[in-house]
Amino acid sequence: MTAEPLLSVENLQTQFFTEEGTVRAVDGISFEVNEGEIVGLVGESGAGKSVATSSIMRLVESPGQIVGGTVTYKGKKIVDIETGPDGEPRQSDEMLTNEEMREQIRGKEIAIIFQDPMEALNPVFKVGAQLREFIEINRDVDRKEARRIAVDMLREVGIPEPEKRYDSYPHQFSGGMRQRVLIAMALACEPSLIIADEPTTALDVTVEGQIIDLVHDLEARYDTSFVWVTHDLGVVAEICDRVNVMYLGEIIESAHVDDLFYDTKHPYTEALLQSIPRPDQTVEELDPIVGVMPEAINPPSGCRFHTRCPDARTVCREVHPSQRDESDAGDPVHQVACLKYESVGYEDAQPLETEATAAFGGGIVEATDATDAQGDEA
Ligand SMILES: Nc1ncnc2c1ncn2[C@@H]1O[C@H](COP(=O)(O)OP(=O)(O)OP(=O)(O)O)[C@@H](O)[C@H]1O
Ligand code: SF4
Ligand SMILES: [Mg+2]
Repeated sequence: MTAEPLLSVENLQTQFFTEEGTVRAVDGISFEVNEGEIVGLVGESGAGKSVATSSIMRLVESPGQIVGGTVTYKGKKIVDIETGPDGEPRQSDEMLTNEEMREQIRGKEIAIIFQDPMEALNPVFKVGAQLREFIEINRDVDRKEARRIAVDMLREVGIPEPEKRYDSYPHQFSGGMRQRVLIAMALACEPSLIIADEPTTALDVTVEGQIIDLVHDLEARYDTSFVWVTHDLGVVAEICDRVNVMYLGEIIESAHVDDLFYDTKHPYTEALLQSIPRPDQTVEELDPIVGVMPEAINPPSGCRFHTRCPDARTVCREVHPSQRDESDAGDPVHQVACLKYESVGYEDAQPLETEATAAFGGGIVEATDATDAQGDEA
């Protein structure tokens, strides 16, 4: 436990400056990845998962900007934003330059697998040639050796007859095979960390299972760490060691995977778990999360989940919860951001009437105006 984490993300903030206003896509998240660990990042669509991963890789595009926080990888500052004398965010002297990111980090140390393999693979070039070129650029080897490594990698990720398939075009591969090629590409430079952004979402369940088995195998063999992004808690249960649950740009619960499932602390995580289909349930018995996630451009006051939380009380729209460790002594850290665990008067506050509390039969105070603590519209 004394070893430094491989990757450490501290108070990372990324915003998009749009005509409609500032989108606080990632709003002060912190988490760590240790060597050989698979760490999940889960949450509904729009939670900020992809912006978080592209911030770590420093691939955020305009009008987006990392405005705060630090990302440390093997002691190097991938991101290190400080406040300048003018009060504006600026890069510290320690932060890696764009060139250093390109030459030292991306691909070689940290690789990313995107959700859509067709976007990452060029349709007009053969799969093998793309893989070979990537290896040639990123590893100090000649073309012949790069080809040999490429064929090996294709075999490694379970492509049958790799010498033959080397000369296929991406469209001649199935979705699962293309995803395997992307994993091969990510592995090609033997990175210590792979960030996988919903790599199995587009695949059917059987192929998804095969990819998950493959990742387990590779993790054991190469000791590669993963950040695994998904909206699917079923996948999390299969693959992750630790999990961070995101809601509207924030991490609201963070725990060892078993604790997250069997000692769930945050109402949002609870709601996500309720919405997973189980074999013993009919579709009618499923409990989808009430309402939709509000816009990150103008997040609700207090606890951002209060507009949908079945346990919301008046204090929840006034006070912003902070992360606290609620683990029992000697157990792994279990962080949660919910006012139930703080001494701010949650116990004595009145239930807040929301779509969710109404669905659970309670609630007497309206929560229609998220930004107004006295909001009382009918
Ligand atoms: N280029 C952009 N301009 C403006 N807002 C953006 C941009 N990219 C992302 N956002 C906003 O940032 C927030 C987080 O988006 P992000 O793509 O990270 O969500 P996500 O959790 O990855 O969702 P999904 O599961 O759908 O992939 C959203 O509110 C989104 O609208
Ligand atoms: S702080 Fe309140 S609204 Fe937020 S999750 Fe906890 S109980 Fe629900
Ligand atoms: Mg995404």
